[in-house]
Amino acid sequence: MKRIAIYPGTFDPVTNGHIDIVQRAVELFDEVWVTVAINPSKDPMFTSDQRIRLLEESLKHFSNVKVDKFSGLVVDHAREVGAKAIIRGLRAVSDFEYEFQMALMNRKLADEITTVFLMPNEKYTYLNSSLIRGLARFGADVSEFVPACVMDALKRSVN
Ligand code: COA
Repeated sequence: MKRIAIYPGTFDPVTNGHIDIVQRAVELFDEVWVTVAINPSKDPMFTSDQRIRLLEESLKHFSNVKVDKFSGLVVDHAREVGAKAIIRGLRAVSDFEYEFQMALMNRKLADEITTVFLMPNEKYTYLNSSLIRGLARFGADVSEFVPACVMDALKRSVN
């Protein structure tokens, strides 16, 4: 049986920290679905289709990664794609409280699906997408933190 995992997130935009998590996930699972959350409570810089395109471009070298989007509950989407695991990145202790709550609630909603926490390389522990968006708006060079296609998209979006 295929071991399938889902890696949900806003990915506005995808960063090298996210890609580091995907790299670790593909070594553990046969198939990893990186899935863009359509979250009405967030006001993203990039549309869901743009975020998908940037993920597809950034992750094209992984043969066992699929990219899609979902709205609604993450556990429902996990069931739709046959995933038994939800991947989440843990960057620092500050992530823990929120992630712990989500993992337990998701377990309550779907006991057969397990949340798996992966830690990115320590050089990405302070990285998040808002920081990248903020820096890019001020014209800072964020090429160290994001793939080239994201760098181009950020430049286009702030000019
Ligand atoms: N590298 C860099 N940044 C990372 C990262 C990593 N490895 N891991 C997380 N981040 C950052 C993200 O860039 C994002 O930054 P931002 O807030 O500055 O934009 C931040 O951490 C939050 O991460 P994200 O993965 O986007 O999580 P989220 O809090 O937006 O939650 C879902 C996304 C999809 C998991 C959540 O909204 C969800 O589950 N939605 C569905 C509804 C549902 O099922 N609810 C019940 C669950 S209890």
